Amino acid sequence: MKKYAIVLAAGKGTRMKTEMPKCAYPLLKKPMIAYIVENLKMSSMIDEIIVVVGHKKEVLKDILNSSVLYADQDQQLGTGHAVMVTEPLIDDLDGDVMILPGDMPLVDKCLIEKAFNEHISRRHDLTVVTTKVEDPHGYGRILRDEQGYLDEIVEEREASSSQKLIDEINTGLYIVKTKTLFDSLKKVTNNNQKNEYYLTDIIKISKNDNRVIGTYSLKESYKAMGVNDLYMLSQAEQILQTNINKQHMKNGVAMINPETITIGHNVVIEENVIIHPNTYITGNSIIKKGAQIGPNTEIHESYIGERVVCKHSLVYNSTVHEDTTVGPFAHLRDGANIGPKNRVGNFVEIKKSSTGTNTKMSHLAYIGDTTCGSNVNFGCGAVTVNYDGKNKYRTEIGDDVFIGCNVNLIAPIKVEDNSTIAAGSTLTTNVPKGALAIARAYQVNKENYIKNKPKTEDKKNNE
Ligand code: UD1
Ligand code: CA
Repeated sequence: MKKYAIVLAAGKGTRMKTEMPKCAYPLLKKPMIAYIVENLKMSSMIDEIIVVVGHKKEVLKDILNSSVLYADQDQQLGTGHAVMVTEPLIDDLDGDVMILPGDMPLVDKCLIEKAFNEHISRRHDLTVVTTKVEDPHGYGRILRDEQGYLDEIVEEREASSSQKLIDEINTGLYIVKTKTLFDSLKKVTNNNQKNEYYLTDIIKISKNDNRVIGTYSLKESYKAMGVNDLYMLSQAEQILQTNINKQHMKNGVAMINPETITIGHNVVIEENVIIHPNTYITGNSIIKKGAQIGPNTEIHESYIGERVVCKHSLVYNSTVHEDTTVGPFAHLRDGANIGPKNRVGNFVEIKKSSTGTNTKMSHLAYIGDTTCGSNVNFGCGAVTVNYDGKNKYRTEIGDDVFIGCNVNLIAPIKVEDNSTIAAGSTLTTNVPKGALAIARAYQVNKENYIKNKPKTEDKKNNE
């Protein structure tokens, strides 16, 4: 018997009041929908994931690619209708389906597994995951009969004032036998305030059809948060951030002012790392033992080696090997690959370039499209001139090269091992092994110049 998951993500997200489809909104730089799909994949239960897309579907398809199946809901006629459009993709009529709203980013693997197991072990035809919240506004309320059994769900718009006081809400997460699901969906109408096909109507319908229905009560109600507007998005992000930081600190990562530190869901940080305030580490970044990151640093999709110190800097899609120092105010990007024991100092930008061991660019340098060896010293203001306004060219620098201050290396160019480049040189041709390259005008001293120069006072008198 197959286990399916259907994620509802076709809605526009009108309450977000913005253009982007709601389920594509990022938390800690990762789209909401990606959390849900990732947790479904991590749980050992689900055989097939179907995502219902509609409004700006290409944005969601770009995020999830071929990791899931898609059902198109071209007109958003309600959550019940969204599930109806998945019917052709469900081939096992004896299977079970978990339905999740795509705006529930805090749902985790543990909740998915527990709720599904409960549904199976209690032999329910339909299980609704419910929780109690302080402020139930906006959620569907759970109505129970006199014996306390689930009766139906009433939406905020349709609820009477006494029903609105009920603090047990519908999380939007359900597990249903496929047959029960599609049989009852056929009976759902859009006879309500929004003229939508409400998925929540299947509860009453299944009950009337004598199906076995029940609830699974979630204790940690925050996991059920449905993000409907940008304020709720920021609240969900804060919860996620607090939980992630707590876990890292328990694993031996020191954080100074953790409320100012943002660590993405997929970041790996080893023990003995210190993270200073106002630091963002996101994407699939890895921070190795003994590193010190921040303050005021952004690291995205990057590898930071053991004992690296990185302050006041930006590191995107790059690798920094062990014992290197980065910053203050350095910018590494687009596949920069910095070797061990390097020094990348103040106002240095490195793009699509690699360096060997013990290379130093301590101040004010731009290194782009460059392959550089070991023990190279870039003087202050050294620049690889990689762009002629049309095309980009590469610079190759060997080992043990000394590059003076304010040198321009006009690419394509090759600077061989052990060479030296005089300060202020603008090089357009290769430098052979062991050579000294000087490419600047000779100095001319005009003797006695000051004698013939009019004095400031004389100038004033003439005016
Ligand atoms: C829904 C539930 C409510 C529950 C709440 C939990 C219904 C009628 N109500 O309300 O009981 O407490 O979730 O968060 O189901 N969607 C589609 N196609 C549509 C409409 C919606 O794919 O035609 C998707 C949306 O993109 C969204 C999800 O379904 O991801 C939920 O829709 P939303 O409008 O946010 O439902 P709520 O009003 O929050
Ligand atoms: Ca919602």
